[in-house]
Amino acid sequence: MKNYLAPMEGVTNWVYRNAYHDCFYPVDKYFTPFITAKPNKRLSSKEIKEVSPETNGDLPVIPQILTNNAEDFVKTAHIFRDEYGHREVNLNLGCPSGTVTAKGKGAGFLGEPDKLERFLDEIFEKTGMEISIKTRVGTDYEEDWERLLEIYSRYPLKELIIHPRLLKDHYKGIPRYELYEEAREKLKVPLGYNGDIFSVEAYQEIREKFPDADSVMYGRGLIARPYLLDAIMQKEDGEDHREEYRKKLRQFHDRLYRDYQEYLSGERNVLFRMKELWSYMAPGFTNYARYLKKIKKSQHFGDYEAAVMSLFGEQEILKV
Ligand SMILES: Cc1cc2nc3c(=O)[nH]c(=O)nc-3n(C[C@H](O)[C@H](O)[C@H](O)COP(=O)(O)O)c2cc1C
Repeated sequence: MKNYLAPMEGVTNWVYRNAYHDCFYPVDKYFTPFITAKPNKRLSSKEIKEVSPETNGDLPVIPQILTNNAEDFVKTAHIFRDEYGHREVNLNLGCPSGTVTAKGKGAGFLGEPDKLERFLDEIFEKTGMEISIKTRVGTDYEEDWERLLEIYSRYPLKELIIHPRLLKDHYKGIPRYELYEEAREKLKVPLGYNGDIFSVEAYQEIREKFPDADSVMYGRGLIARPYLLDAIMQKEDGEDHREEYRKKLRQFHDRLYRDYQEYLSGERNVLFRMKELWSYMAPGFTNYARYLKKIKKSQHFGDYEAAVMSLFGEQEILKV
C-alpha cells in the first residue's frame, strides 16, 4: 500500500515537503496544494516553486489543479508537463471551501454531474498525461455517489483518491466508509483512501477495513504528528520510540523554521506559518495547552523560540 501526503493549502507546500522528506519516513507521492487554472494561465512565482524540480529536487511531486473549465485544465497541465517535466496531474474535486464551491469548483463540481462528465471527456481526450482525481463522495446526499461512480468508471484514471465525506459534512462526523467500499466494488482503477488517519490504530483499522486499497493519503494526522508514518512502520517491534520521535520532531522543526526564515520575508510571515503548524502539532505533547498559548501569542522570534524550547524541554510526546 502506497503512502501519500495530502495537498493542504498553506501547509504542505514545497518548503514543508522538503523538510518532511529529509526528516521522516518518506511518502510515495507529495500532492501540491491546489493551483487554480485560469484562461491564459501563467504560473506565479509561488506556484512555480510548488512544481519546479529546482525547488523539489527529485521528490515525487504531483501538481493538483482546481478548475471546472476543461480548456484551462489542459493548458495548465501542459505547463506542468512542458516546462517542469510532470507526467501526472491531479484534479481537485474535494475542496469544500465556500468561495471555491460557489463557483462550481472543487467539491462544488460534484453537484453538476452532467457538466463534470463533459469536462472529463474533454480533459481525457486532450491532456495526454496521466490524470488522477481526488474526490469527495457527493455534495448533499449519499445517493450522489452512484452517479459519480458511473461517471468515474468511464475514464482511465491513474487513480481515484476518495475522501468519503459529502461536501456538506466538511470535516465533521465519521467518514462514510461504506461509500468507499462501493467504489471498490464498482471501479477497476487503483483506489486510494483518505480521511481521519490520526494514529497508528486508525491506520490499522483502515488497513483491516480496506486491505486492497492501493494507497493511503495522510493529511491532518501527519501534520499533527509528522512521525506518524515512522510509527506505523515501526509498530511491529513493540518498542517505545517516543524519545526518538521527540528528537526527530525537534530537528524537523528547526529545519523548517530556518527554511521559512530563508524563503519568507519578515518575522510575521514566518511566525504565522509556524503557529499554524503548532496548532496541529502541540496536541501531540502532554499538557500542551499553556505552551501553545505562548507560541500563539509570540510576536518575535525570541519569544517564539523560548516557548518552543520549553515545550520540547518540559513535556513528552504522547502515544502515537
Ligand atoms: C487546511 C487545509 C487545506 C487543504 N487544502 C487542500 C488542497 O489544496 N487540495 C485538496 O485536494 N485538499 C485539501 N485539503 C483536504 C485534505 O487534502 C484532506 O483531504 C482532508 O484534510 C482529509 O484528510 P485528513 O483527515 O487526513 O486530514 C485541505 C485540508 C485542510 C485542513
